Amino acid sequence: MASTLITAPNALLTPDGQPATSDWSLTADKVHLNHGSYGAVPRVAQEHQFLLKAKMDANPCTWFMGQAAALAGTRAEIAAFLRVDANDMALVPNASAGVSVVYNSLTFSRGADIVTTDHAYGAVLEGARRVARECSGEVRVAVVPLDADAALSCELVMAQVTERTALIVIDQITSATARSLPVLEIAQAARELGIPVLVDGAHAPGAEAAPVPDFEGFWVGNLHKFACAPRGTAAVVARGPLRKHLHPLIDSWGFPHEFPESFDHVGTQDITSWMAAKTSFDTIETRYGWDEVRRYSRTLADYGAAVIQDAFSAATGEDAAVDVGMPVGQLRLIRLPKGLATTHEDSHAVRAWISDMLNFETAITTFGGAGYLRLSTHAYNTAREFEAFAERAVPELLRLARLR
Ligand SMILES: Cc1ncc(COP(=O)(O)O)c(C=O)c1O
Repeated sequence: MASTLITAPNALLTPDGQPATSDWSLTADKVHLNHGSYGAVPRVAQEHQFLLKAKMDANPCTWFMGQAAALAGTRAEIAAFLRVDANDMALVPNASAGVSVVYNSLTFSRGADIVTTDHAYGAVLEGARRVARECSGEVRVAVVPLDADAALSCELVMAQVTERTALIVIDQITSATARSLPVLEIAQAARELGIPVLVDGAHAPGAEAAPVPDFEGFWVGNLHKFACAPRGTAAVVARGPLRKHLHPLIDSWGFPHEFPESFDHVGTQDITSWMAAKTSFDTIETRYGWDEVRRYSRTLADYGAAVIQDAFSAATGEDAAVDVGMPVGQLRLIRLPKGLATTHEDSHAVRAWISDMLNFETAITTFGGAGYLRLSTHAYNTAREFEAFAERAVPELLRLARLR
């Protein structure tokens, strides 16, 4: 059994020897194994944002008159964390907004198509469908097997490209299937055909040391997932000639400027989440070290997945392990017993049931008509939490599957 071969990593501790979870404000009545969906903000960053809000409300006139200048500085801080040039990056409230910026800024001629995969995030796919409807074009979806390697994934995506393809939208780390896709290879192949690429890197910041691949095109990513920034913090990186076409979702006083300065003016919008983001990055760096958090998260994910897979497999006699082709450090996918979460609606119901009845926060996903448990790891998670899931939640999920 895999779990007997993988040693449980020792839990991360704060510099004064406390469990790492004490740096977060997550409730103790649930076990939080779903960092990947909405992140979790360290207390210090929450407090910093609260102080910034207090300052904003102490004198809104002074605050908002200086906001664009402050935003340019904040942009530089976040660009440094992402290891990109601040002149190539603008801030937006979330990855969805970044995707909308690209969809709304490019020109799609009549009959144009957009190529993506069956792993694309649902909302991003819906946006592509909206664009395609508006230009009487179509979205062409490459079917990429869960276990496809980089070469096959790239081949299948490029096989969907036609002479009408105006954009390729590709996930760097997929949501439902917790795997990587070969974005650099696809960007390279697309470049040879002169087709722009939008990389959905929603999960990449914090999960990878250098999360923005080196390519010419568009990239969006959330800082409020693995990077732990206060929610509402995301970035658009744009390189190459098309970047001059990007305009912000909010037409405000940045209009004389081009990307990215045009994005530094956001009207009367609260940007304190952006301003406190560096506090999250610095807190994790000084208290644990980002490289150590990434190493720990990967080891813990390997251990936790093995323990839970073994519990399912031992009971059902079927292998619950999933080969995702290009695995990700902090996310793991485990096959659920047959009959559970086979539709999108049921995956929501099963997730809510696990939270309400069993007190574990997880992500439950559906792909290709099968249900999966998606687990995340971060600094505050421990091996004991995954063992507890195997002991308490796995038997209940098996019972639920038998009742279906
Ligand atoms: C791959 C992917 N893209 C886009 C999004 C949208 O992120 P947001 O809701 O922060 O805009 C998510 C959210 O989980 C995601 O997983």
